[in-house]
Amino acid sequence: MIAQSAAPPAPFRAQLLKWIGNKQTQAQAIISHLPARFGTYFEPFLGSGGVLGVLSPARAVASDGFLPLMEIWRSLREDKERLKTHYAERHALIVALGKRQAYEHVLRDYNARPNGADLVFLCRACYGGVVRFRKQDGHMSTPVGVHDPLTPERFAARVDAWHSRTRGTEFHHLDFAAAMSRAQRDDVVYCDPPYGDSQTILYGAQAFSLERLFASIAGCKERGVRVALSIDGTKFSGRKVCDVPIPDGLFVRETFVSVGRSMLKRFQMKDGTLEGHEVSDRLLLTY
Ligand SMILES: C[S@@+](CC[C@H](N)C(=O)[O-])C[C@H]1O[C@@H](n2cnc3c(N)ncnc32)[C@H](O)[C@@H]1O
Repeated sequence: MIAQSAAPPAPFRAQLLKWIGNKQTQAQAIISHLPARFGTYFEPFLGSGGVLGVLSPARAVASDGFLPLMEIWRSLREDKERLKTHYAERHALIVALGKRQAYEHVLRDYNARPNGADLVFLCRACYGGVVRFRKQDGHMSTPVGVHDPLTPERFAARVDAWHSRTRGTEFHHLDFAAAMSRAQRDDVVYCDPPYGDSQTILYGAQAFSLERLFASIAGCKERGVRVALSIDGTKFSGRKVCDVPIPDGLFVRETFVSVGRSMLKRFQMKDGTLEGHEVSDRLLLTY
């Protein structure tokens, strides 16, 4: 059943979570390449849900393989007041202990028992929003950020906005292959995977392989499900991603999505011009 349209969405910039690879600023460009009409929207590498939040689909299945993250999304859906309280309780420790001590206290609790209630505060308060985990023991290792985390009032306003924008969304803790196998004819899947081994440390020790993803995409295509795949341009060369060949004929179109100017280049260049130095993600489309 085709019921939804990906008409140009209104800008929506308020982020609920900070997450490496957040796509909220590129979301409108990505959405402009989704089919004009589709059934259910699937986002199997949800992270902080940058595209989901901007698209605000009438019907969606959103999932991620990282359990503490999905606990946050489930709280948003099932009991948003509880999510606000989780954040406010941890934020209150800043007044009692100071920012660094409060952060380290919550980090210790999280590492002793990984859970969404702590993670929601940690991702907002950690350095640069770079939630990453040590390889040897899986512990979150990011230090406290230099910024002041959102006040509980501002966070609560974001919870309300995101709650309303995801009212048609089911949230599940699922490996991407299980999530994608639920998609049916005329549904659309947007994939924003980690690329190769280098990112496993960022998202915890989850099994990810591009070969497995390509097999799931092929299965979707056979069932009449359309798939859009974001690929980091730097991991892409010719017909390979991170040395993994892209199966012939799987994708029929490729587009570039600007991710803004590269600040690194700005500082490296003597004349200060940024022409030709825009960083681009690629979007591969099966349709
Ligand atoms: C690049 S991030 C997605 C970022 C997202 N687009 C956003 O706006 O925040 C990739 C996500 O894939 C998840 N992931 C890694 N391996 C997975 C797997 N095997 N199945 C499902 N999700 C997985 C990670 O937990 C991470 O949240």
